[in-house]
Amino acid sequence: MKLLNLGCGKHYHKNWINIDFNKTGENVIAYNLLNGIPYKENDIDVIYNSHLFEHFNKHNGINFIKECYRVLKPNGILRIVVPDLEGIVKEYLLQLEKSLLGDKNAQTNYEWIVIEMIDQMIRNKSGGEMINYIMNKNIVNKNYIIDRIGIEANDLLNTNYTANTYYLKKNNNQKLLGLISRFRVKFAKIILGNESHLIDIGKFRTIGENHLWMYDRYSLSKLLQECHFSKVNLTDVFHSMIPNWEQQNLDLIDGKIRQPNSLYIEAIK
Ligand SMILES: C[S@@+](CC[C@H](N)C(=O)[O-])C[C@H]1O[C@@H](n2cnc3c(N)ncnc32)[C@H](O)[C@@H]1O
Repeated sequence: MKLLNLGCGKHYHKNWINIDFNKTGENVIAYNLLNGIPYKENDIDVIYNSHLFEHFNKHNGINFIKECYRVLKPNGILRIVVPDLEGIVKEYLLQLEKSLLGDKNAQTNYEWIVIEMIDQMIRNKSGGEMINYIMNKNIVNKNYIIDRIGIEANDLLNTNYTANTYYLKKNNNQKLLGLISRFRVKFAKIILGNESHLIDIGKFRTIGENHLWMYDRYSLSKLLQECHFSKVNLTDVFHSMIPNWEQQNLDLIDGKIRQPNSLYIEAIK
């Protein structure tokens, strides 16, 4: 079976072909998925991607789904996990209503849910407001944040990350390319003078950290159907059409849900 884990980040699996912008481990191929999926037609049995799809803009997102359809074998399975726009908006409205009634806990949670909803779309710097909030020593709604974004929040809450180190860990090859790129950027900045910060913003917004679109159960189902997928089906971390799903450990860590604020959807070619 050929299994693809696209935009795997640090969550790769030795039985899968793992692809990401960055070579995050031995079993990961560094590749930009905006150039298409590097496999021939009708070649792949399963495509899994978690918290990748929202990093494409609407246009590139449609192309990505078409690419998934192209490379999957007939009856091949696509599983997509994204932050659930509907869930986040409902939570925002709940915390807003309670905050307006003077509920102190809600007022603290409101701070977080606004960050969760907006920050990854609008940030121009790695980590954005999310890291600033999490790194605050006096944080009082730690458990709420863990309930929202999962046990991975523990990593962030318990580690001395700085905003620039969380997302951008690089290997030696990437460091060399980085050095060349930095030289070119320095030169371009001299030419741009007092508008040189625009280069940093532009570069940051193309490294795959921003959310460029968001989806709910209606819009993602509709998109999959429009791209000719059948049996479009909302699911959860525990259930999948992917054979031996319970052994893949992709949406769980030690039996716990990795990213609770997610929407899980599957479809068949
Ligand atoms: C939020 S992380 C999710 C990582 C992992 N799938 C997970 O569930 O924890 C998004 C990942 O998508 C990758 N990514 C974003 N745009 C990409 C692109 N155009 N090509 C390849 N990978 C991309 C990023 O490098 C990052 O590792």
